[in-house]
Parts: sequence; C-alpha cells; structure tokens
Amino acid sequence: MAAEQQRLASIQSSVDTFSQSVLSGLGLTAEARCLEVGPGAGSIAGWLATRHADVVAVDKDLTTFAAPRPTTLRLLQADLTTLTWPPTRHPPPNASPPARHRSSDASDQACRGSSDASDQACRGSSDPSDQPASNDQPASTDQLTSTDQLTSTDHAASVDQPASTAQPTSADQAGLVDQPASGEWPEAFDLIHARFVLCHLPERDDLISRLAGWLVPGGWLVITDPYQLPAATSPYPLLQRLLAAYETRYGKHGTDLTWSRGLPARLAAAGLTNLGHAGQLGCLGNGPRDRWRPLIEPVLPELLDLGLITPDDVEQWRTALADPAFVDIPQFTLAAWGRRPR
Ligand SMILES: C[S@@+](CC[C@H](N)C(=O)[O-])C[C@H]1O[C@@H](n2cnc3c(N)ncnc32)[C@H](O)[C@@H]1O
Repeated sequence: MAAEQQRLASIQSSVDTFSQSVLSGLGLTAEARCLEVGPGAGSIAGWLATRHADVVAVDKDLTTFAAPRPTTLRLLQADLTTLTWPPTRHPPPNASPPARHRSSDASDQACRGSSDASDQACRGSSDPSDQPASNDQPASTDQLTSTDQLTSTDHAASVDQPASTAQPTSADQAGLVDQPASGEWPEAFDLIHARFVLCHLPERDDLISRLAGWLVPGGWLVITDPYQLPAATSPYPLLQRLLAAYETRYGKHGTDLTWSRGLPARLAAAGLTNLGHAGQLGCLGNGPRDRWRPLIEPVLPELLDLGLITPDDVEQWRTALADPAFVDIPQFTLAAWGRRPR
C-alpha cells in the first residue's frame, strides 16, 4: 500500500496543476454537479469539491482515498465497468460502512500504471472560443499547438471480464458509500472527469459513450490518459529495454498506453462537440525532476519475473537515476474534452 500511495502521490504532484488548468478553463459554475471517476488518492475530487456544490467520486477501491472531504464531496465505491447512472435506490443507512474502512476485493491490476507528467505543455483545440482557458499553462519553449479538426469512429472492447458477460448493476448493488444529504444523487452531471483510469480498462471505448450519456445537455466530459512514446526511440539502451518491458507489462494487464491519441475522435464519435485537447510532457530522471521512479520501482519485481529485464538492468537504473544528466521523456499526458450539445 505504501508503494501505491507513493505512486498516486507522484501522479498528483506531477499532473494536478495541468488537470486543474484544463478543468478551470471549462467555465463551470459553483452549482455544477461533478463526477470524478477513479479518484485514487483524491486530490482532484477534493479540489473540485472546494469549487462546486456537488461532487461524486466513484472508485472500485476507495482505500487509497486520502484527500480532505468537504460536505460537497460524496464517495461511491463501485466498478465503473458495470455501473449504471443514476442509481435507482439507496441501501439502508448503515448497510455500507465508509469505504475507507472497508477492504476491497477489487483487483488493482487495472490501475497499476499510469502516467507521469511534468513540465512542458502542448495544447490543441477545434473550437478555441469554447475551450478551457489553456493559456494559463506555464509557457514552455517546447510548447506545441494544433488546431485539429476531428472526426472519429466508435469502438468497443471489454475489462476485467469480457464485455459480453459484464452485467450493468445499479450503484446500490455495487455499494454506495455516502448517502446524499438531500436523499438524491444527481440525475446527470455538468462535468465528468477521469484521469489515468480508462486506458487501463479494456471497456474504454464503450465507457466513453456511457459516460457521455451521464452528462446534462451542455455538460463536459474530460478524459486524461498517458501516451507512451516508443521505447526504442529513447537515447538510452537501458531505457529502451526498461520502458519496452514496462509497456509489455501493462499490455498484459489490458492497459493501452497509446489509446489516448484517439480520445478527441472518440469524444466526437460519442456525439460531443466543442472538442479540445492538451498535453503535458513527462520527465524521467533529471535529478529531483524525476517523476518515474515511483512508477517503475513497484513493477520491477514483475518485470524481472517475466524475464523482460535483468538484475543488472535494475542496478543500472538505480545508478543512472542518481545522475542529473540522465533524462528522458517516456510519455506525455493527454487531456481531451468535449461537450454534450444543448
Ligand atoms: C492510476 S489510478 C489514478 C488515480 C487518479 N485519477 C489520479 O489521476 O490521481 C486509477 C484509479 O482508477 C480506479 N479504477 C480502476 N479501475 C476501476 C473501475 N473498473 N471502476 C472504478 N474505478 C477504477 C483505481 O482504483 C484507481 O483509484
């Protein structure tokens, strides 16, 4: 658990500013109803709850949730892949103890990977007049922009269980955690945000359409996931091996570390408009700017077991990290958003 908390903390410290910039730019009101999907340690859910009236955070395992919980934030422990919204009924008041005190049987395979992010920004949009305020990203000499016009196709796939056998369940079956004070959950949301969740779920394409269906007219869907650059293009033979092993390992768990590239097109295929996207480059090494040690270290035993790397690679990796001149860009974080037509 300590390694997982470190990993989640590392994600938050490297990507929260970027995510907050994207979300702030949507122009949501204080009354906005928000859904944070897969909050992890909960920094973004907590941050949203300080700005908006009603925030629901849904995760299949809330034991890592560590953020403060204002009354505007409610937690729901449920598997997104089988969740339907809105929930149809609520369990008796003491039917579900708070999730943070319960153990979860949820496999954490699907979330054991993630992205790094860090210092550089790239951003594009098909409709600048109605996009998040991207200009509050720190300026960067490596800043990239684009004005892609997007078309897309729909896709389908499945997760921990094949899509064909996954039966949607209502949230009460999945385990409601916090009862809404008013007795009602929002029927639909002004904002749905998922960061580093969907790329791990084989049902990711279907989930885009499902989440889009949980928006109010005018509501925003924001999906953020990593895009892994080709390991073979790393300037370090060590990282060529290590990052290829990392990608192989995640692929075995159903994660697609390049799926994010198609996000704008998939949002368009789900019927969303006002599309936009932005990115932030990652940083491996470079002394204290490194964001990858907490991502790589927990998976080293598995990479060794799979025979994808050698003990000598592990030693070289740890030695190299001590050198501030050792620096690479393994991936970038891509956020894409779209709006349900009014
Ligand atoms: C890599 S963590 C990202 C956490 C957080 N979004 C962040 O970026 O800091 C992935 C999160 O998604 C959750 N998750 C994975 N699969 C899920 C599922 N099927 N249903 C609900 N939550 C899921 C995990 O429990 C974990 O909290």
